[in-house]
Amino acid sequence: MGEKILLDCDPGHDDALAILLAAGDPRSELLAITTVAGNQTIDKVTHNARAVCTVAGVSGVPIARGAAAPLVREAIIAPDYHGESGLDGPALPEPTVPLDPRAAAELIVETVLAHEPGTVTLVPTGPLTNIALALALEPRLAERVKGVSLMGGSYTRGNRTPAAEFNILADPEAAAAVFAADWPVTMVGLDLTHQALADDAFRGRVRELGTPLAGFVEDLLGFFTTAYARRGFPAPAVHDLCAVAAVLDPGVLTYREAFVTVELAGRWTTGMTVTDFDGLLGRPVNTRVAVSLDRDRLWDMAVAAIARLGRPAPAAG
Ligand code: BDR
Ligand code: CA
Repeated sequence: MGEKILLDCDPGHDDALAILLAAGDPRSELLAITTVAGNQTIDKVTHNARAVCTVAGVSGVPIARGAAAPLVREAIIAPDYHGESGLDGPALPEPTVPLDPRAAAELIVETVLAHEPGTVTLVPTGPLTNIALALALEPRLAERVKGVSLMGGSYTRGNRTPAAEFNILADPEAAAAVFAADWPVTMVGLDLTHQALADDAFRGRVRELGTPLAGFVEDLLGFFTTAYARRGFPAPAVHDLCAVAAVLDPGVLTYREAFVTVELAGRWTTGMTVTDFDGLLGRPVNTRVAVSLDRDRLWDMAVAAIARLGRPAPAAG
């Protein structure tokens, strides 16, 4: 059995790729998918998570709907990057995989408690609302998980404001709770994920697979490329894929340790992940911060997962 992963996401083009890697990599055991309002409304991202699983033939993984709004602030969404559906580009099928009746926070708690302590990694790739709610519901969560590998934040720059990255800005109070909890946190922020630009070479490898799932991914990346081109990027950053990859392959990223906290009261800097590599604040290290990416290794993993999911199931017997 592989790494036990619970993916909390807001699909989202790069969240969709995160789902495919978590479901398709042989080193992964995807236990559950939970959704959170972020890139689009909770209804849309939940529909999208189910649609991605339907296209990819992922069944038997519980999918639960989560928070419709941040803990205390007004919701923000990201149609500028992800379109009106949250997953513009490909034709989305009507989902055939069911929706779990539990709320996301409940499913997170139940899933972690149902497994051996220290075995389940939470991988949040959207705002951290569900994770904070799950922690509030069951404070033992912190000691029970293996860790949290989150896509969010940055140590040099934001993408939604000059200081703040979208997932953290969307629910800074939730993010602050996640960084403050006593559990191993890996921050896969923009400094890392802007190294993961899904360029033509990667897209070509996906296209060559020739499966319907590969066509779906190509349509996703086509839309995403145009959205990023408007901001001067030569190719789109597939942020969320990196947070899953970090769990499955210890060699795909390198890290530095730091104390990280979230600015909640800044005039210009709310949602900033203040990252102290040098102990200037006199606080203990609480985060492993991703700093560099082995891009070829990431693309190899992603292509292999898409290939694996796209294959027809072997004949029984
Ligand atoms: C993050 O925000 C979302 O738009 C992406 O899905 C990713 O999780 C990048 O800032
Ligand atoms: Ca996301």
